[in-house]
Amino acid sequence: MNPTNPSLDSRTSLEKCFSPAKINGLELKNRLIKAGTFENMTPLGVPGSTLSAFHQRLADGGIAMTTLGYCAVTADGRLNENMMYMHEGIRAPLTSLIHSLHERGTAVSGQMGHCGGFSKNRELQRRRPLGPSFAINGLGLSQGMFFADAMSIQDIDEMVDQYRDAAQFMKSVGFDALEIHFGHGYGLCQFISPKTNKRKDEYGGSLENRMRLPLRVLAAVREAVGDAFPILGKISMSEGVRGGIHYDDSVVISQMLDRAGIDAIVCSGGTSTMNPMLMFRGDNMLPTMLATEKSLLMRLILRLAGKSMFRDYPYTDLYFLEQAKRIREAVNCQLVYIGGATGNDNFADLMDAGFDFIQLGRSLLSDPELPNRCARDAGFKSRCVHCNECVGTIESPQGIHCTRY
Ligand SMILES: Cc1cc2nc3c(=O)[nH]c(=O)nc-3n(C[C@H](O)[C@H](O)[C@H](O)COP(=O)(O)O)c2cc1C
Repeated sequence: MNPTNPSLDSRTSLEKCFSPAKINGLELKNRLIKAGTFENMTPLGVPGSTLSAFHQRLADGGIAMTTLGYCAVTADGRLNENMMYMHEGIRAPLTSLIHSLHERGTAVSGQMGHCGGFSKNRELQRRRPLGPSFAINGLGLSQGMFFADAMSIQDIDEMVDQYRDAAQFMKSVGFDALEIHFGHGYGLCQFISPKTNKRKDEYGGSLENRMRLPLRVLAAVREAVGDAFPILGKISMSEGVRGGIHYDDSVVISQMLDRAGIDAIVCSGGTSTMNPMLMFRGDNMLPTMLATEKSLLMRLILRLAGKSMFRDYPYTDLYFLEQAKRIREAVNCQLVYIGGATGNDNFADLMDAGFDFIQLGRSLLSDPELPNRCARDAGFKSRCVHCNECVGTIESPQGIHCTRY
């Protein structure tokens, strides 16, 4: 802080936020990145005009890089059958979507996801979804898919290959960066978490063992895309559940990823499977979920168990800042802040705290023009009120949207 003129400092920090910066070999025009938010705009898994229009609006709004949320690395890695998975059948529409964003001066990242044992995909090729250990498949209950099976070593080897193949495909269709999802309770997170990984072999037990698959995946993706291509990794710093990943673990997890050559870590938290509100903060989405859930069984489960899963976490701006700062001190790679960054005052603080980039989720759903508005007006702040209805209505036929504006 400049003690004689604090506003000068914040102006300098904001100038930094709106100036170009590199992730590995990729130059971004500013430090603002659209966070991966599964768009639900790929009916039957095909990226079409709705998804294109959604990202084009973001590109026109000034974001440096947009992220296509949850690109499943394989068909069985989808949470449901309307998710996109990486295969030749979508090469043409995906290439043209990415091309249209490049024409607008925006880079495109693809979030590489695999649901592991958490799926309601009715087109599952296996009998059951596969995770690190046999478990109840909470998401699949409505479809009568009650359980997930434990992966064999051969399944693990196949999963590494699926990430490698998907990465190769994604680079070839024009993605500028890839973001491996290590968090939020999905497949790789299920391995990292002692809560969900009960294996007795070299993929379970110690943190070193639990990180074996995620690190093999990172190595395979790196092999596929080469040294100069940006690879980000999104982690859950804490799952917010007893016996799960804790903030202390995430410092070590980040150091392992850093040593293994990741370019940037996105410091998120919570899990979609056990404690989603830790990730989102703000209004509890349980009432919206109850109102929109079609399955009678799921409604019953939500009524009985919803309160323990959807806990209240009041919203504050930059709610992961203190924990993410610990990671900043512990690693050399670049860091991407995520969680309640909503305006120029936050952006300046994050630049001062040494974060390299900032991911924005709900504030951009509320207003895709936010980056341009912030660049024009130093006092600008998002109009998002963290009602979380964009999450509660995620399965709406129109895709994700802000229900207020
Ligand atoms: C509608 C919606 C869908 C989301 N889908 C994903 C997703 O597919 N992958 C993911 O990593 N995070 C997902 N998230 C979480 C966001 O990436 C982000 O971590 C969270 O919204 C907190 O950031 P914010 O305060 O900027 O919104 C989603 C968020 C929203 C609002």
